[in-house]
Amino acid sequence: MRATVVGSGSWGTTFARLLWRNGHQVQVLTLTAAEATRFNAAHLNAHFLPGVEIPPEIRFVALSEASLEGCALVVYAVPTQAVREASGWVAPRRPAEALQLSLAKGLELQTLLRPTEIIAQETGAAVAALSGPNHAEEISRDMPAATVIAARDGGLARRLQKIVTGDTLRVYTNADVVGVEFCGAAKNPVAMAVGIADGLGFGDNTRAALMTRSLAEVARLGMRLGADFATFAGLAGIGDLIATCTSVHSRNRRAGELIGRGQDARRVQEIIGQVVEGIPTAYALHDLSGRLGVEMPVTEAVYDVLERGVSPVDCVRNLMGREVTAEAGQDIMSLVTQIRQSATKTAKRHARRLLP
Ligand SMILES: NC(=O)c1ccc[n+]([C@@H]2O[C@H](COP(=O)([O-])OP(=O)(O)OC[C@H]3O[C@@H](n4cnc5c(N)ncnc54)[C@H](O)[C@@H]3O)[C@@H](O)[C@H]2O)c1
Repeated sequence: MRATVVGSGSWGTTFARLLWRNGHQVQVLTLTAAEATRFNAAHLNAHFLPGVEIPPEIRFVALSEASLEGCALVVYAVPTQAVREASGWVAPRRPAEALQLSLAKGLELQTLLRPTEIIAQETGAAVAALSGPNHAEEISRDMPAATVIAARDGGLARRLQKIVTGDTLRVYTNADVVGVEFCGAAKNPVAMAVGIADGLGFGDNTRAALMTRSLAEVARLGMRLGADFATFAGLAGIGDLIATCTSVHSRNRRAGELIGRGQDARRVQEIIGQVVEGIPTAYALHDLSGRLGVEMPVTEAVYDVLERGVSPVDCVRNLMGREVTAEAGQDIMSLVTQIRQSATKTAKRHARRLLP
């Protein structure tokens, strides 16, 4: 199959390599012609994926020179804020039957839309999302991993599962696109919070408390958006949260660590030199949780550091000073109960209409 990966950063280049390993013919689209020339000549993407040899069969082509003729799969591997531009480029060029897969993890700042919603708007065609605990640094070195491909259309998810599954990546399908994409986006500010705690010199107890309580707040908002509770306990939920919050590879955790050590929050994106999705996502979640009236204390603390200049130490004091409450996932369980009750009411209403 001929596949096109839009975006030549660490994940795009890694994913191209995965598809190539599975026997597909792959081109990767770069922003500039200079990048394409450099990567093709060196068989290396030194800035985004140092030390990983790229097989010569994978061709890098500048967006300005690329064509999608004969392409059967388009993969979006760009930062979320660039997904609209990338899918806008694809829309008029894409063969009608080409499958689409989004790898981006975030929410669009202006619209608060998820990547697949943006792509569907721009291309008018179905698109699936891939998300899970998948650091490019490890997958590009053929270390075993697992992931989720989510699509409302089970047939699309299964077709993509066959294309992407390989001897180093195991793919599960999931119909909960909202949950899978929302988890992928929301874990990034959490990883920043954990990084801040690491930078302040705190230990495993702090990390575990932040991760666990964050999962509760992420599930609270996600379920308000229609996500399935089970997704939070899966690879795209807790799986990705563990990988992102504990890994040396996580840019979001590293960005937080820099802030915790005293670095100016406005400079961390520039220092890291690759997209730190947690930053725009913290702003988007601040907006979204405010509109829906859902409390997200950990995510909000990250927003406070980024936007309001609150010091990490004051954020910790604020979080620790919150009114104490019962645990037992009571907020999540009460949501589940509410959803069950409303489903029962709807079912009864339909039954009344249908039955004499
Ligand atoms: N790196 C990972 O391990 C990983 C894993 C899973 C998901 N993701 C997600 O994948 C997305 C991309 O991440 P990444 O790590 O590859 O980022 P990156 O910073 O390494 O690379 C981003 C690439 O996108 C390119 N780009 C930016 N705007 C573009 C546009 N309009 N058209 C074409 N190309 C454009 C940049 O030139 C760059 O090459 C993010 O949403 C990230 O959260 C990354």
